[in-house]
Amino acid sequence: MQFNHWIHFFNSNAGHFHHFRFTDDHAIDEVERRIIERSLQQFQHGEQSEGKNLFRYAKGFDSDGYLKAIVPFIREEQDHAMILGKFMERNGIERIKGHWVNEVFRGLRRFAGLEMSITVLLTAETIAAVYYKALGRATSSDDLRRICEDILRDEEMHINFQSYTINLLQRDRSWLHRKCLRYAHQFLMAGTIVVVYAGHRRVLRAGGYPAWHFAREVQREFMRADAMILGQGSIATAQ
Ligand SMILES: [Fe+2]
Ligand SMILES: [Fe+2]
Repeated sequence: MQFNHWIHFFNSNAGHFHHFRFTDDHAIDEVERRIIERSLQQFQHGEQSEGKNLFRYAKGFDSDGYLKAIVPFIREEQDHAMILGKFMERNGIERIKGHWVNEVFRGLRRFAGLEMSITVLLTAETIAAVYYKALGRATSSDDLRRICEDILRDEEMHINFQSYTINLLQRDRSWLHRKCLRYAHQFLMAGTIVVVYAGHRRVLRAGGYPAWHFAREVQREFMRADAMILGQGSIATAQ
C-alpha cells in the first residue's frame, strides 16, 4: 500500500492543537487588528473544509490507502481552522461565512478531477507555507506566533503529501498530459500570488514580505513541490 507511511504520519501528528495552551491574556491592539483582522478571517475560513470533492474524486483512485490518508489530513486542516478560530474568539474577531477567493478555489476543485483538484490544493498549501511565516512575524501575540509555527510544520508536510500523490498519479500519464498539468499549475500559482498579495499585503508587508519577496518565497516552495512531483526531490514520510 503506497500511503501507509502517510496514514501513520498523519495519525501520529493528529490532535496536537487540542493540547494548545493560550498564554497571552491581553488582546491585540487596534493597530495590529487593522493589519491582521480581515486576512486572518479569510485564512481561517479557507482552512475549514470537509473535503467532499477530494473524497468524491479519491474513490476513483486505485489505492485504498489514499482514501484512508485523506481522513486525518482533512482533520488536520480543520484543526487549523479550529485553533485560529479560538484565537480570533479570544481577540474579538468574528468568523466569516464565506469569501470569494475561497469560493473560486472550491469551485475549481469541484470541476477539476482528482489530479487537478490536488494541484489546486497544493497551490493553496504553497501560499500557506509563506503566509503563516508572515503572520507569525507580523503579530505581537505569542499565542498566534506559536500557532503559526505549528501550522507551518503541518503545511510543509501537506506540500510533500500532495506532491507525492501527484507524482504517483502522473506515472501513467503521457508526456503531454504531464506538461499540460505543469503549465496549469504554474499559471494557477502565478495568478494566486497576485490575488493573495493584493488581498493580504498588510500582513505580508508587516511580516517582512514586500511583493517581490513574497513572490520569490512562494516560487521557492513551488519549485520544491515541482521537484517532488517530477520525482527529483526527497519526500520525508513517503520513504
Ligand atoms: Fe492548513
Ligand atoms: Fe494544508
